[in-house]
Amino acid sequence: MLKDKHIIVGITGGIAAFKTATLVRLLVKAGAEVQVVMTPNAREFITPVTLSTLSGRPVISEFFTANTGQWNSHVDLGLWADAMVVAPATASTIGKMANGVADNMLVTTYLSAKAPVFVAPAMDLDMMRHPSTVRNLELLRSYGNHIIEPAEGELASHLIGKGRMEEPENIVLVLDDFFARGQDLAGRRVVITAGPTVERIDPVRYISNFSSGKMGFALAEECAARGAQVTLVAGPVSLSTRHPAIERVDVESAEQMLQATLAAFGQADVAILCAAVADYRVDNVAQHKIKREGNEPPVLRLVPNPDIALATGQAKRPGQITVGFALETDNEQANALGKLQRKHLDMIVLNSLRDPQAGFQVDTNRVTIITADGRQTPYPLKNKREVAADVVDAIHQLILSQKNA
Ligand code: C5P
Repeated sequence: MLKDKHIIVGITGGIAAFKTATLVRLLVKAGAEVQVVMTPNAREFITPVTLSTLSGRPVISEFFTANTGQWNSHVDLGLWADAMVVAPATASTIGKMANGVADNMLVTTYLSAKAPVFVAPAMDLDMMRHPSTVRNLELLRSYGNHIIEPAEGELASHLIGKGRMEEPENIVLVLDDFFARGQDLAGRRVVITAGPTVERIDPVRYISNFSSGKMGFALAEECAARGAQVTLVAGPVSLSTRHPAIERVDVESAEQMLQATLAAFGQADVAILCAAVADYRVDNVAQHKIKREGNEPPVLRLVPNPDIALATGQAKRPGQITVGFALETDNEQANALGKLQRKHLDMIVLNSLRDPQAGFQVDTNRVTIITADGRQTPYPLKNKREVAADVVDAIHQLILSQKNA
């Protein structure tokens, strides 16, 4: 997938810069055209001669080329690129990128780049977890940049922890995967429900569940990365959204989630109902805090909440697709298929509560995708972003098969 792709490799001043020579070599080997841009500090760690030899192009690190006075246009370079990778990215450069401190060629090129940007941080573990670095990386994510998380291991300081730049082979895989998946959802609108709902008992108490929202948020990121416009209807969760193509609507109760979902579904091509909606809400919500006084414990009268998946399935027009999730403990396949039919879904993603590494709170999931024609595809244990990619692949297949029907 990297053949003939124009890739800017930005190198900053960290020990891991020596690994970037391998990255450049691998990219060139895969058929990419590579332009190396270095910060002045990076030249203390690896020589421009090595990199210009490997890339077959003169390295750029100053606004002007010494001797000739030729101006290096960061704007032209930004437009030339199909992707930009900053590896290693030091805390300082990450801070400059996050805050627009354009005092070198690398950061000005970054600010001019229209192409997707990948950032592979490398630093000591304490720098990595400093709130300033954490916040700056969050900012880069919010600009839609892709952070290639550093690995755990021995660092240059001999301390063990998170901060090792991802291996060049894996950075190439990330890029290759990105170009392979491309923009297959470009022009599509997707609405996604995520997280739990919160049903009030009184002004300070509520009924809810352990859903973290991680699966729904991973789906939103995945759809957006593949070109979709996403409306993410989120119950109360402590997650942030990163991609500019995600419009987030925060809600509290099932009733609010239903309204927001139906409003967005009118213009949507796909609805992914991933939220763990509370099945019941309190009918007699107290206006004042319920007191412990008196002998009789209070009685909460529960009434069923609307089924958002069902309502969306019923509102479906030809061409629209609805996808649900099922979390089952027994009779898994049969129960999931039953839900698919009852809720007029086109596809249901089954995860088993029997599996300790799947479901609520954890970062991994093991799913089986079941489509309305009864086809079942089991997948191995993966992280939630990878599961999201599998689910979106299956949705894309449904879109294609509808088009051909
Ligand atoms: O019936 P059950 O809750 O197991 O169904 C799970 C699927 O239905 C999930 O996709 C969930 O998001 C959706 N659902 C919903 N509204 C409800 C209950 C479930 O959208 N009130």
